[in-house]
Amino acid sequence: MPLMFAADVGTGAAPVGLAVLEERELPPGPLDLLDGLGCTRPIDLDVGFGKGRSLVEWSQRGFGGTLLGIELRRGFVEHAARVLARAGASGVRLVRGDFRALVSRFVPDGAVRRCFLHFPDPWWKKRHQKRQVVSGPVVAELGRLLAPGGEVFVQTDVPERAEEFGGAFGAAGLEQVFPSGGAAGENPFGVRSNRELRCIEAGLPVWRMVFRKGPQA
Ligand SMILES: C[S@@+](CC[C@H](N)C(=O)[O-])C[C@H]1O[C@@H](n2cnc3c(N)ncnc32)[C@H](O)[C@@H]1O
Repeated sequence: MPLMFAADVGTGAAPVGLAVLEERELPPGPLDLLDGLGCTRPIDLDVGFGKGRSLVEWSQRGFGGTLLGIELRRGFVEHAARVLARAGASGVRLVRGDFRALVSRFVPDGAVRRCFLHFPDPWWKKRHQKRQVVSGPVVAELGRLLAPGGEVFVQTDVPERAEEFGGAFGAAGLEQVFPSGGAAGENPFGVRSNRELRCIEAGLPVWRMVFRKGPQA
């Protein structure tokens, strides 16, 4: 029995019909993406979706299944919920919470088709390291959640981050399949985020990478 989302029943900040959940209201322990959070396969994740353009574009691409968006800042979640409602988007569910804490609780293993990480961790100062979403433990949990052949799409405008992401996902046993030569490439999924669009408009370089879990893993 899926959890009842606040907005499913027409309360809370989000419009009726859109699924939005608060991390602190979730039951303790493992969180079943299917039976608990009400996702249907194939399941994609959008971690730190910000103002939510990538959620709307995902829904317009008709990938099927569910996109589960997780975002730390309440203001962004509320904004994204309004944008999704205006766009008449379907198949998207939102959790306001800290992905670093949530990822280890998500089950079942192998349930996720693709994880989008659009411009995570834009900070480069040492004192900001504790905030980083892409860390060894988080990447290992993502590897557990990915289905065989499942993918992580990461993009950033910070070249140092691009290098670190390569190392972190490689260490977790995921193979980099895009871009194979290491050059900055076009967005292979056509799902653009707010920051991506700002970079494109400003003519700034964007480093985009896809990491894939092996078929037998
Ligand atoms: C640079 S912004 C990118 C926003 C959006 N993905 C885009 O590309 O426009 C990083 C986003 O990640 C969110 N974030 C940071 N740490 C997070 C965490 N631990 N869990 C969930 N979201 C997080 C921030 O609140 C922010 O919205």
